[in-house]
Amino acid sequence: MRDTQRVDKVLSNLGIGTRKEIKRLVKEGAVKVDGVVVTDSGMHINPKDSLIEVSGELLKYREFIYLMLNKPQGVVSATYDSTLRTVIDILPDEYKSFGLFPVGRLDIDTEGLLVLTNNGQLAHELLSPKKHVPKRYYAIVEGIVDERDREAFREGVVLDDGYKTLPAELFIIKSSGFSEIETVIYEGKFHQIKRMFKAVGKKVKYLKRIEMGKLKLDEALRPGECRELTNEEVLLLKAVETVN
Ligand code: URA
Repeated sequence: MRDTQRVDKVLSNLGIGTRKEIKRLVKEGAVKVDGVVVTDSGMHINPKDSLIEVSGELLKYREFIYLMLNKPQGVVSATYDSTLRTVIDILPDEYKSFGLFPVGRLDIDTEGLLVLTNNGQLAHELLSPKKHVPKRYYAIVEGIVDERDREAFREGVVLDDGYKTLPAELFIIKSSGFSEIETVIYEGKFHQIKRMFKAVGKKVKYLKRIEMGKLKLDEALRPGECRELTNEEVLLLKAVETVN
Protein backbone atom coordinates (compact mmCIF):
# COMPACT_ATOMS: atom_id res chain seq x y z
CA MET A 1 0.00 0.00 0.00
CA ARG A 2 1.31 3.42 -0.92
CA ASP A 3 1.35 5.93 1.95
CA THR A 4 2.44 8.99 0.03
CA GLN A 5 0.60 10.79 -2.72
CA ARG A 6 1.18 13.87 -4.83
CA VAL A 7 0.06 16.96 -2.97
CA ASP A 8 -2.20 18.02 -5.87
CA LYS A 9 -3.93 14.62 -5.75
CA VAL A 10 -4.43 14.89 -2.02
CA LEU A 11 -5.95 18.35 -2.42
CA SER A 12 -8.24 17.33 -5.25
CA ASN A 13 -9.29 14.31 -3.16
CA LEU A 14 -10.21 16.72 -0.41
CA GLY A 15 -12.35 18.66 -2.85
CA ILE A 16 -10.15 21.79 -2.93
CA GLY A 17 -10.51 22.28 -6.66
CA THR A 18 -9.52 21.03 -10.05
CA ARG A 19 -5.90 20.14 -10.79
CA LYS A 20 -5.58 23.48 -12.60
CA GLU A 21 -6.95 25.46 -9.67
CA ILE A 22 -4.65 23.61 -7.30
CA LYS A 23 -1.65 24.33 -9.50
CA ARG A 24 -2.56 28.00 -9.31
CA LEU A 25 -2.88 27.88 -5.50
CA VAL A 26 0.55 26.25 -5.29
CA LYS A 27 2.00 28.87 -7.61
CA GLU A 28 0.57 31.58 -5.40
CA GLY A 29 2.26 29.99 -2.37
CA ALA A 30 -1.11 29.33 -0.76
CA VAL A 31 -0.43 25.68 0.06
CA LYS A 32 1.64 24.68 3.07
CA VAL A 33 2.53 21.24 4.33
CA ASP A 34 3.77 21.05 7.92
CA GLY A 35 4.28 24.81 7.87
CA VAL A 36 6.41 24.83 4.73
CA VAL A 37 5.17 26.46 1.51
CA VAL A 38 4.78 23.90 -1.27
CA THR A 39 6.45 24.96 -4.50
CA ASP A 40 5.94 21.77 -6.49
CA SER A 41 2.41 20.40 -6.80
CA GLY A 42 3.93 17.01 -7.65
CA MET A 43 5.62 16.76 -4.25
CA HIS A 44 4.76 13.56 -2.38
CA ILE A 45 3.29 13.79 1.10
CA ASN A 46 1.66 11.41 3.52
CA PRO A 47 -1.86 12.86 3.89
CA LYS A 48 -2.55 11.01 7.11
CA ASP A 49 0.39 12.48 9.01
CA SER A 50 0.74 15.93 7.44
CA LEU A 51 -0.72 19.26 8.43
CA ILE A 52 -2.04 20.68 5.20
CA GLU A 53 -3.01 24.35 4.95
CA VAL A 54 -4.61 26.15 2.03
CA SER A 55 -4.76 29.95 2.20
CA GLY A 56 -4.08 29.78 5.93
CA GLU A 57 -6.84 27.27 6.60
CA LEU A 58 -5.99 23.91 8.06
CA LEU A 59 -7.63 21.08 6.13
CA LYS A 60 -9.36 18.24 7.83
CA TYR A 61 -8.13 14.96 6.47
CA ARG A 62 -11.15 12.86 5.58
CA GLU A 63 -11.36 9.93 7.85
CA PHE A 64 -13.75 7.92 5.75
CA ILE A 65 -13.93 7.34 2.04
CA TYR A 66 -16.81 5.67 0.24
CA LEU A 67 -16.47 4.40 -3.30
CA MET A 68 -18.95 2.81 -5.64
CA LEU A 69 -17.28 0.32 -7.97
CA ASN A 70 -18.91 -1.36 -10.93
CA LYS A 71 -17.05 -4.58 -10.31
CA PRO A 72 -15.97 -6.25 -13.53
CA GLN A 73 -15.80 -9.99 -14.02
CA GLY A 74 -12.43 -11.60 -13.33
CA VAL A 75 -11.47 -9.77 -10.11
CA VAL A 76 -11.96 -11.00 -6.58
CA SER A 77 -13.77 -9.09 -3.84
CA ALA A 78 -10.82 -9.10 -1.47
CA THR A 79 -8.03 -6.76 -0.42
CA TYR A 80 -5.30 -9.27 -1.15
CA ASP A 81 -4.92 -12.40 -3.23
CA SER A 82 -1.68 -14.20 -4.01
CA THR A 83 -2.61 -14.92 -7.62
CA LEU A 84 -5.78 -13.14 -8.72
CA ARG A 85 -6.41 -9.44 -9.27
CA THR A 86 -8.46 -7.88 -6.49
CA VAL A 87 -10.93 -5.02 -6.48
CA ILE A 88 -8.26 -2.94 -4.69
CA ASP A 89 -5.71 -3.62 -7.45
CA ILE A 90 -8.01 -2.03 -10.03
CA LEU A 91 -8.70 1.21 -8.11
CA PRO A 92 -7.11 4.46 -9.30
CA ASP A 93 -3.82 5.10 -7.43
CA GLU A 94 -5.23 8.04 -5.50
CA TYR A 95 -7.45 5.67 -3.48
CA LYS A 96 -4.83 3.08 -2.71
CA SER A 97 -3.54 4.61 0.52
CA PHE A 98 -6.86 4.81 2.34
CA GLY A 99 -7.09 1.23 3.60
CA LEU A 100 -10.32 0.58 1.67
CA PHE A 101 -12.00 -2.80 1.70
CA PRO A 102 -15.06 -4.17 -0.09
CA VAL A 103 -18.35 -4.28 1.80
CA GLY A 104 -19.26 -7.90 1.22
CA ARG A 105 -18.39 -10.11 -1.70
CA LEU A 106 -19.44 -10.66 -5.23
CA ASP A 107 -18.30 -13.83 -7.00
CA ILE A 108 -15.40 -13.50 -9.41
CA ASP A 109 -17.78 -13.75 -12.38
CA THR A 110 -20.41 -11.38 -10.90
CA GLU A 111 -20.48 -7.73 -11.96
CA GLY A 112 -21.97 -4.65 -10.48
CA LEU A 113 -22.35 -2.61 -7.36
CA LEU A 114 -19.64 -3.01 -4.78
CA VAL A 115 -19.08 -0.41 -2.10
CA LEU A 116 -15.55 0.09 -0.85
CA THR A 117 -14.91 2.01 2.33
CA ASN A 118 -12.60 2.29 5.31
CA ASN A 119 -15.58 2.76 7.64
CA GLY A 120 -15.55 -0.59 9.42
CA GLN A 121 -18.56 0.19 11.58
CA LEU A 122 -20.79 0.94 8.59
CA ALA A 123 -19.53 -2.13 6.73
CA HIS A 124 -20.35 -4.22 9.78
CA GLU A 125 -23.90 -2.80 9.90
CA LEU A 126 -24.47 -3.40 6.19
CA LEU A 127 -23.30 -6.97 6.43
CA SER A 128 -25.03 -7.85 9.68
CA PRO A 129 -27.36 -10.81 9.08
CA LYS A 130 -29.79 -9.18 11.54
CA LYS A 131 -30.26 -6.14 9.32
CA HIS A 132 -31.64 -7.98 6.29
CA VAL A 133 -30.28 -5.34 3.93
CA PRO A 134 -32.00 -5.85 0.54
CA LYS A 135 -29.76 -6.53 -2.45
CA ARG A 136 -31.16 -6.36 -5.95
CA TYR A 137 -29.59 -8.30 -8.82
CA TYR A 138 -30.18 -8.52 -12.53
CA ALA A 139 -29.57 -11.95 -14.02
CA ILE A 140 -29.72 -13.88 -17.25
CA VAL A 141 -30.84 -17.40 -16.49
CA GLU A 142 -30.70 -20.45 -18.70
CA GLY A 143 -34.21 -21.89 -18.92
CA ILE A 144 -37.71 -20.52 -18.75
CA VAL A 145 -38.22 -18.69 -15.48
CA ASP A 146 -41.91 -18.72 -14.67
CA GLU A 147 -44.59 -18.13 -12.04
CA ARG A 148 -43.66 -21.29 -10.17
CA ASP A 149 -40.15 -19.97 -9.66
CA ARG A 150 -41.56 -16.65 -8.52
CA GLU A 151 -43.72 -18.49 -6.00
CA ALA A 152 -40.78 -20.65 -4.87
CA PHE A 153 -38.63 -17.56 -4.29
CA ARG A 154 -41.48 -15.92 -2.39
CA GLU A 155 -41.71 -18.95 -0.12
CA GLY A 156 -37.93 -19.26 0.26
CA VAL A 157 -36.08 -22.09 -1.48
CA VAL A 158 -34.12 -24.93 0.05
CA LEU A 159 -30.46 -24.77 -0.99
CA ASP A 160 -28.12 -27.71 -1.59
CA ASP A 161 -27.00 -27.67 2.06
CA GLY A 162 -30.57 -27.87 3.38
CA TYR A 163 -30.77 -24.17 4.32
CA LYS A 164 -34.12 -22.55 3.53
CA THR A 165 -33.62 -18.99 2.32
CA LEU A 166 -35.62 -16.04 3.50
CA PRO A 167 -38.44 -15.07 1.12
CA ALA A 168 -37.06 -13.29 -1.94
CA GLU A 169 -38.70 -11.28 -4.69
CA LEU A 170 -38.43 -12.38 -8.29
CA PHE A 171 -39.37 -10.10 -11.17
CA ILE A 172 -39.52 -11.74 -14.58
CA ILE A 173 -38.45 -9.37 -17.34
CA LYS A 174 -38.26 -11.91 -20.14
CA SER A 175 -39.18 -15.57 -19.98
CA SER A 176 -37.71 -17.72 -22.74
CA GLY A 177 -34.75 -20.06 -23.44
CA PHE A 178 -32.60 -17.47 -21.72
CA SER A 179 -34.70 -15.57 -19.22
CA GLU A 180 -34.00 -12.13 -17.81
CA ILE A 181 -34.96 -11.42 -14.26
CA GLU A 182 -34.38 -9.16 -11.29
CA THR A 183 -34.39 -10.54 -7.80
CA VAL A 184 -34.15 -9.03 -4.34
CA ILE A 185 -32.64 -11.04 -1.52
CA TYR A 186 -32.36 -10.06 2.13
CA GLU A 187 -29.33 -12.06 3.16
CA GLY A 188 -26.01 -13.01 1.62
CA LYS A 189 -25.25 -16.70 1.67
CA PHE A 190 -22.36 -18.04 -0.40
CA HIS A 191 -23.32 -18.06 -4.12
CA GLN A 192 -26.87 -17.46 -2.96
CA ILE A 193 -28.57 -16.49 -6.20
CA LYS A 194 -26.85 -19.14 -8.28
CA ARG A 195 -27.82 -21.72 -5.69
CA MET A 196 -31.41 -20.48 -5.49
CA PHE A 197 -31.78 -20.93 -9.25
CA LYS A 198 -30.06 -24.30 -9.06
CA ALA A 199 -32.65 -25.29 -6.46
CA VAL A 200 -35.39 -24.61 -9.02
CA GLY A 201 -33.48 -26.47 -11.76
CA LYS A 202 -31.96 -23.46 -13.58
CA LYS A 203 -28.55 -22.00 -14.22
CA VAL A 204 -27.47 -18.39 -13.82
CA LYS A 205 -25.43 -17.33 -16.86
CA TYR A 206 -24.83 -13.70 -15.95
CA LEU A 207 -25.24 -11.87 -12.66
CA LYS A 208 -24.99 -8.21 -11.80
CA ARG A 209 -25.79 -6.46 -8.52
CA ILE A 210 -27.69 -3.24 -9.13
CA GLU A 211 -28.75 -2.11 -5.64
CA MET A 212 -27.65 -2.49 -2.06
CA GLY A 213 -30.00 -1.10 0.57
CA LYS A 214 -31.19 2.16 -0.92
CA LEU A 215 -28.04 2.71 -2.94
CA LYS A 216 -28.28 2.16 -6.71
CA LEU A 217 -25.45 1.37 -9.09
CA ASP A 218 -24.64 4.40 -11.23
CA GLU A 219 -25.25 2.99 -14.70
CA ALA A 220 -22.80 5.52 -16.15
CA LEU A 221 -19.97 3.53 -14.55
CA ARG A 222 -18.60 0.95 -16.94
CA PRO A 223 -17.31 -2.33 -15.49
CA GLY A 224 -14.03 -1.55 -13.71
CA GLU A 225 -14.89 2.11 -13.11
CA CYS A 226 -15.51 3.66 -9.72
CA ARG A 227 -16.42 6.98 -8.19
CA GLU A 228 -16.87 8.42 -4.74
CA LEU A 229 -20.36 8.37 -3.29
CA THR A 230 -22.06 11.74 -3.06
CA ASN A 231 -23.04 12.94 0.42
CA GLU A 232 -26.63 11.97 -0.36
CA GLU A 233 -25.56 8.47 -1.34
CA VAL A 234 -23.56 8.08 1.88
CA LEU A 235 -26.73 8.99 3.75
CA LEU A 236 -28.68 6.42 1.71
CA LEU A 237 -26.13 3.81 2.64
CA LYS A 238 -26.31 4.79 6.27
CA ALA A 239 -30.10 4.58 6.12
CA VAL A 240 -29.55 0.84 6.46
CA GLU A 241 -30.33 1.28 10.15
CA THR A 242 -33.91 2.02 9.20
CA VAL A 243 -34.30 -0.56 6.39
CA ASN A 244 -35.94 -3.70 7.70
N1 URA B 1 -25.32 -14.51 -5.42
C1 URA B 1 -24.43 -15.21 -6.16
O1 URA B 1 -24.68 -16.33 -6.53
N2 URA B 1 -23.26 -14.61 -6.49
C2 URA B 1 -22.96 -13.35 -6.13
O2 URA B 1 -21.88 -12.86 -6.48
C3 URA B 1 -23.89 -12.65 -5.37
C4 URA B 1 -25.07 -13.23 -5.02
